[in-house]
Amino acid sequence: MSEPAKFLNAFAQAISTMGLYKAGHPARQRAIEAAYNQLADLQASVIKPSFTFLGGEVLFGQRTMRELKEWDWGTRLANAGVQRLEFVDDVTRDDLEAFLEEVVAKLNLAQIDTALARPERKTGIKFGAIGVKGMTGLQHREDVALPTATITYTLNDEANAVRWMHDEVQQYGQLPLIEAEAVVRSLSVAMHADSEIVIPLVQLKEFDQYTTTHSLNVSVLAMALAEFIGLGAADVRAFGVAGLLHDLGKVRIPKDILTKPGKLSDSEWEVMRRHPVDGAKIIIQSDRQLDLAAVVAYEHHVMLNGGGYPCMHYERDCHHASKLVHICDVYDALRTNRPYRDAWSAEATLSHIEAKAGTEFDPELVRNFSGMMRKFEGRVAVVDEATSVLTGAAAEPAEPAKSGE
Ligand SMILES: [Fe+2]
Ligand SMILES: [Fe+2]
Repeated sequence: MSEPAKFLNAFAQAISTMGLYKAGHPARQRAIEAAYNQLADLQASVIKPSFTFLGGEVLFGQRTMRELKEWDWGTRLANAGVQRLEFVDDVTRDDLEAFLEEVVAKLNLAQIDTALARPERKTGIKFGAIGVKGMTGLQHREDVALPTATITYTLNDEANAVRWMHDEVQQYGQLPLIEAEAVVRSLSVAMHADSEIVIPLVQLKEFDQYTTTHSLNVSVLAMALAEFIGLGAADVRAFGVAGLLHDLGKVRIPKDILTKPGKLSDSEWEVMRRHPVDGAKIIIQSDRQLDLAAVVAYEHHVMLNGGGYPCMHYERDCHHASKLVHICDVYDALRTNRPYRDAWSAEATLSHIEAKAGTEFDPELVRNFSGMMRKFEGRVAVVDEATSVLTGAAAEPAEPAKSGE
């Protein structure tokens, strides 16, 4: 990989890490350090290196960087107003960190308190939109919409953050709320990096990572559906957090039950069925503001007709968010390979959900969910967590098997 490409990769890595971890976190320090070192290497060989991000293309100086053809950060940066990036003078580590913070804020990856905005500082970094002049020759290029979603990022950072979050809950019983919200923000950014929505679903590689990938996928699906039915941005995020945390109670389930390859015994099922109550308790004890997530954790296995669990002693209607997450939950569970069965095809899964509309699922939400999945069929991207692959349609496995947990 060329020097400029190495720098841009380290730069993007730093931005996404800074969106996930707060100031002082070692992962964040490491990522900034790495970007700084790459920049120093680059500046050692090129005087005033400059980059342009335009229409999905990345230019280094005047030259198109073909190796970054599929690098989606260029589009994200351009959309956030950073179309041109120039290093005109020596840059200190602090300069770079301040600049990275600004980019993170521009990308809306982290909440910023504008009252505490940094004073203007003079640095060797220039950036911003490109003038109309610079656009000549490029603006007439036709942007042909891709029939399938093609994204080149991984959700590795998000998956790592979720794993870390589950460990924290397991060890200390406390939910790190800021990180949970950062993951949801980051997923939301990934979904909207393109002009049309992308639904990035992580493909499970190792069975014991099920809860991590499943949490990310349910969060993404819940946000997509909430957006599809016209909810506002704040509600969409709240539904995303609820989706991310719906199975949090599973941190209390012993691993051998969670990953058991065969059928669960009655006593094991009993343990499994405790996760909605446990999850709701953990969430409520961690943060009062998260009562929506707590309600969803509690209700996500309750069926429309009152079946499911936990057992309700009197008939009651579940929260709209719980009904929505319930559909997304079953969809992702059935679409995933499990130790005891293969993944279902998208079509079989949707048919199954449609067949249970009115008994297990809310019919109106099912109509919307199916409508959304069929409309955005080509925008569902299967993200391989480990290797950054993706394509539109996932491999379709054969026959449906029995519904899981
Ligand atoms: Fe669950
Ligand atoms: Fe679930």
